[in-house]
Amino acid sequence: MLNIVPVNLGERSYEVRIGFGLIETAGAAILPLLRRKKVAIVTDHTVAALHLERLLAGLSAEGIEATHLSLPPGEGTKSWPHLSQTVEWLLEQKVERKDVVIAFGGGVIGDLVGFAASILRRGVRFVQIPTSLLAQVDSSVGGKTGINSPHGKNLVGAFHQPSLVLADVGVLDTLTPRDFLAGYGEVVKYGLLGDPLFFEWLEAEGPELARTDGDLTRRKAARLRAVTRSVEMKAGIVERDETEEGERALLNLGHTFCHALESATGYSDRLLHGEGVAIGCALAFELSQRLGLCAQEAPSRVRAHLKAMGMKTDLADIKGDLPDAAGLLQLMGQDKKVVDGKLRFILARGIGEAFVSGDVPGDAVLAVLNEALARR
Ligand code: GLY
Repeated sequence: MLNIVPVNLGERSYEVRIGFGLIETAGAAILPLLRRKKVAIVTDHTVAALHLERLLAGLSAEGIEATHLSLPPGEGTKSWPHLSQTVEWLLEQKVERKDVVIAFGGGVIGDLVGFAASILRRGVRFVQIPTSLLAQVDSSVGGKTGINSPHGKNLVGAFHQPSLVLADVGVLDTLTPRDFLAGYGEVVKYGLLGDPLFFEWLEAEGPELARTDGDLTRRKAARLRAVTRSVEMKAGIVERDETEEGERALLNLGHTFCHALESATGYSDRLLHGEGVAIGCALAFELSQRLGLCAQEAPSRVRAHLKAMGMKTDLADIKGDLPDAAGLLQLMGQDKKVVDGKLRFILARGIGEAFVSGDVPGDAVLAVLNEALARR
């Protein structure tokens, strides 16, 4: 079972390979990219403990020599100190301009290592081997790389496309249910933003996808399809709008709310990014309904599906204090999605019909937030 989704970007084109056992066979997939049989891998401690041996064996089976750096897991690693550590380590390993760096981990490692690759010797190639659902369906594809700043999330970075993405769906079995569901927030996003039939399929198959027991063959097939459809949608959008001049912003459905909530919860374990995306999608549909853009049925259906999946769906599901509505709105002001001081939101006319709106009235956002806070 191997699906290949091409990302057609002229000389920056690459393939996303999605299947099972891709870590063990990574050497054969990467070999054609190499000028010499040597790679540098950057990973985190959790992924290293679970999967690094298999990757090293897969590389060595093709005679590829590999060194590795393992960083602490967690969002805190997407920072200046770890960027500098990574770049200096890659220089110590004598990574040359024509070499290939491997980002082996979830979204944090992919974003950090992709950015390090983009600035090392003015840009070296890198391969993404994403090990979380979130990274497989979103962050490993499309070339957004970067780190967080004390001023906000992802504020320092570059567009730097990988040369290959190997999404081994088998590794998803090692995720905690919470991490799996957080990644699922991004999967649902694709249905909500542009593919109502995919959302309908997720309504039927989502619970099966997330199970850790039951029919293995069915689960494997469903996971492969969910990741593949998500990547196809992302690839299509990135091909049409690589640097987010327009359509790519649709991928930020739910993210304006999400980034404010992540900031309010200190980018901590209180709220994972994908959980914030799921809550943000529900709020974006509520905002759309309040603005008269979609029927009440749409936000209700979004929330019902997230609930059926056992996911966080509302501000009430976030433990501890949150700022008031005005405070949350202010946090949205720090978001990259602010253009000329106006709030940019992704709104929807229905399930699968999202669009970018550049002038959402602050009052409507406040009303949605106040209602959501009152439900806490
Ligand atoms: N994760 C949003 C994007 O890649 O544009």
